Amino acid sequence: MRYDFDEIIPRRNTNSYKWDSAADADVLPLWVADMDFRTAAPIVEALQRRVAHGIFGYTRVPDAYYDAVTDWFARRHGWTIRRDWMIYTSGVVPALSAVIKALTVPGDKVLVQTPVYNCFFSSIRNNGCGMVSSPLTYEDRTYRMDFEDLERKAADERVKVMLLCNPHNPAGRVWTREELTRLGDICLRHGVTVVSDEIHCELVYPGHTYTPFASLSEEFRQHSVTCVSPSKSFNMAGLQIATIVAADDDMRRRIDKAININEVCDVNPFGVLATIAAYNEGEEWLTQLLAYLHANYRYMQAYCEEHLPDFPLTRLEGTYLVWMDTRALRQPSEELEHRLTQEARLWLNAGTMYGAEGEGFMRWNIACPKSVLHEGLERFRQYAEAHRQHT
Ligand SMILES: Cc1ncc(COP(=O)(O)O)c(C=O)c1O
Repeated sequence: MRYDFDEIIPRRNTNSYKWDSAADADVLPLWVADMDFRTAAPIVEALQRRVAHGIFGYTRVPDAYYDAVTDWFARRHGWTIRRDWMIYTSGVVPALSAVIKALTVPGDKVLVQTPVYNCFFSSIRNNGCGMVSSPLTYEDRTYRMDFEDLERKAADERVKVMLLCNPHNPAGRVWTREELTRLGDICLRHGVTVVSDEIHCELVYPGHTYTPFASLSEEFRQHSVTCVSPSKSFNMAGLQIATIVAADDDMRRRIDKAININEVCDVNPFGVLATIAAYNEGEEWLTQLLAYLHANYRYMQAYCEEHLPDFPLTRLEGTYLVWMDTRALRQPSEELEHRLTQEARLWLNAGTMYGAEGEGFMRWNIACPKSVLHEGLERFRQYAEAHRQHT
């Protein structure tokens, strides 16, 4: 089946967080990370069948759920997950928060690599922990880990957990085996448990390969926790479901307890069925989606080279979130987010949302029809040109 990712599907007035949060209907939202594409037909059909039943009581999570997750990761990523390592919950952020609760006590520290997904900050704070950052270094339009700095920070004995974003939002990196191995070795040396958020793992472009952190060695598997969900890649984030993978029995027991204390141990019937359909029957859609997203990125690159050469794009290896260097405008990111929305009617995310290191950058969500992306770029260009005239 050929999917039409060019189709414009109106999302306003659907209670869309992305589309209905702006007061004005003419603001183009290329901010929050969901996609403007209809998900794979098998997912929609599975949900339609369930809706037709008409009774939406509490749900059990069947064997088919566990089989779908384990089969997918074995088949697509060569990673064997055992069923008894898995705990389901109502999203990756609830998962991260419960894992932090399980593995720390208030006052402990959690290591991150900024700029990074903003909910990491709130999950750390909400569990009474302090955040320690080992900032990524930006050079030649890409980000790298600073291993010397990481080693120093991991050596702090109050650091108990490292939150890894693999692939990385918003840096667009798909970490290599070598990078992950160095990171894992550092964390092992200092008794720091790696909690790897792998929600973006399907969204990887040619030339790059997603490596599940826990698949690298037996030791890494025993000293890490991984959080996965089809929600980002199959555009079903509103269905709120995720799986935690923890091979170590004691760690898993503690996480299970935290999931129950936080009362995020229940999921809804739609999330369960959508996950099964996505992993069992969604691969063809995903293949087409990835080709479309990559073409959008190449289109944006070409557009920027031609019309916005002083706004370099960070090289995108994975995710559909493009990190643009907007320092040429000499406007703080938050002010730029506000002014772009007000003046250009374009909503992007300010880089500082992802930590202070994001100053001077904006995050674009390019998971939309190409014509919409083009419109966003035109709006940005007009804003940039108007601004340049005034300086
Ligand atoms: C790295 C990362 N983790 C987690 C999430 C959100 O996960 P969930 O909606 O399952 O809580 C996002 C959403 O953009 C993300 O980028």
